[in-house]
Amino acid sequence: MEAATGSPPGYGNNSDTEEDRDSETDFEPSNLGTKEYWEDAYRKDLETFKDIGNVGDIWFGEESMSRVLRWMDKAKIPENAAILDIGTGNGAFLVEMAKQGYRNLTAIDYSPASVELARNVLQTEDITDVTVKEIDFLNSQGKLKEFDVCIDKGTFDAISLNPDKTKDGKKIYVSALKDVLKCKGFFAITSCNWTKEQLLDRFSDGFEFVQELSTPSFQFGGKTGNSVAALIFKRVH
Ligand SMILES: C[S@@+](CC[C@H](N)C(=O)[O-])C[C@H]1O[C@@H](n2cnc3c(N)ncnc32)[C@H](O)[C@@H]1O
Repeated sequence: MEAATGSPPGYGNNSDTEEDRDSETDFEPSNLGTKEYWEDAYRKDLETFKDIGNVGDIWFGEESMSRVLRWMDKAKIPENAAILDIGTGNGAFLVEMAKQGYRNLTAIDYSPASVELARNVLQTEDITDVTVKEIDFLNSQGKLKEFDVCIDKGTFDAISLNPDKTKDGKKIYVSALKDVLKCKGFFAITSCNWTKEQLLDRFSDGFEFVQELSTPSFQFGGKTGNSVAALIFKRVH
């Protein structure tokens, strides 16, 4: 499976907004927050995959998958744990989890082209027992239930950029997550738009912070920062 790595323009930590998580102005809305953008992107990726077998972008790079897999291993997440990949894109992470032995995998994406691409990628890898569904996570009430682990790599970021419902989308996301995750279930989020502090604030109600996964840091102007935040939360009442 060949892949590129990346995160496009419009994505990037915004450290100015820690004091107001509901601020409408925390991001400039972007087409990266629209279904049309992703549908167009994955339609093209699907053609490329059919032509030359390249799955497209691995968001935040291969290491972003490895670090979550290492945590799953250390946390002794059982191989039969019910795992949901929220906004699966090309499904590359599903392939990696299946290769690690996880066998109760479900993925959703609101882009039909993403769903088709992920199914194609899984089929090429001879992985036949993963369920990939076309579902808008913000409209998923009653459609998904009882997951032990929910994984998000770049999807909350995309939802945060939606021009129509940035504020509502984030709130609906948290509520949907509470709905699908079992009590004491884990949520693993990788984000490049939100800092650790902002994520802790956003996922404070109904979730307990478990740990931060180590991500590359950079130095600029005498300060050290991280371009990506990867956090683990536990669902609590
Ligand atoms: C930055 S991409 C990340 C894809 C994948 N998680 C990865 O790491 O490669 C964001 C993904 O979120 C999906 N997405 C955005 N909003 C969504 C929503 N409301 N419901 C389901 N999927 C959504 C997009 O279609 C896209 O696949």
